[in-house]
Amino acid sequence: MAISITKAGPSGLGAIVEGLDSEALATDDEELLRRLYAESPVLCLRGQALSPDAFMRLARVFGAIQVQLLREFRDAAHPEISYIENTQRDTRGDGKRIVFGEHWHTDDSYMAKPCSTTLLYADVIPPVGGDTLFANMYRAYEALPDAMKARLHAMRAVHAYQSRRNVNPVPTRTEDEERESPKVSHPLVRTHSVTGRQALYLNLNRIDSVEGLPLKDGDALIDELFAHSIQPTFVHAHKWRLHDVVVWDNRCTMHKASADYGDHRRRMMRILIEGSAPA
Ligand code: SIN
Repeated sequence: MAISITKAGPSGLGAIVEGLDSEALATDDEELLRRLYAESPVLCLRGQALSPDAFMRLARVFGAIQVQLLREFRDAAHPEISYIENTQRDTRGDGKRIVFGEHWHTDDSYMAKPCSTTLLYADVIPPVGGDTLFANMYRAYEALPDAMKARLHAMRAVHAYQSRRNVNPVPTRTEDEERESPKVSHPLVRTHSVTGRQALYLNLNRIDSVEGLPLKDGDALIDELFAHSIQPTFVHAHKWRLHDVVVWDNRCTMHKASADYGDHRRRMMRILIEGSAPA
């Protein structure tokens, strides 16, 4: 089957590749995927029935795999892969259900070197709902008034695994995991290490405070930037089909999982790709 490509939608996100056999990628295919990914930081590869090994091979097209912080959700035989499933609970905390990524965020921003890229593979999908929404943070930055851009350039935010602004419960960490994820400081505007473009760098669930501002003023600024960034014009909704792989760039997007599918099962395999300290 020939490869067909549907270009990104109006948000600048969401290119779709069909007909790609990721078990037999030629060098040309790998280059095509990297080029498409640089143009559309949310890229869907349809119809990939992948074993864990094949998923890891595909992920390595985008860089070196980074093992996720939380041990409990890693695959026992392939720790490079973790699971996101709606049966997961905070087993070390209050035992309540955890919906990973239910609110707007960018992956791993509580780490000193957050992952650059995430790949999610749809292993089990609900009959309705469960979309993942993505916001284009290049476009959100570029649409800000010049005075706001100038103000933000010198500014940094503190990101924390368990932040005071946390809006959805996160799994309680082990002592080792706590040691590996202390609070960190990142710029509010980052320059993409490959494209050189600037993007807002926000995480609704993990930003704790804005450096140099009283909490009230920092909160107001973050709330204003969030409201600006999730305007419909910047947002793409990915409607999952079974065995889709979606690859997204955490350096210039935010995302959220829609938890609107009741008790239907939803299970994703997830791989992270190494990144560098935002600058
Ligand atoms: C994530 O936030 O990494 C997962 C998003 C999803 O489950 O749709």
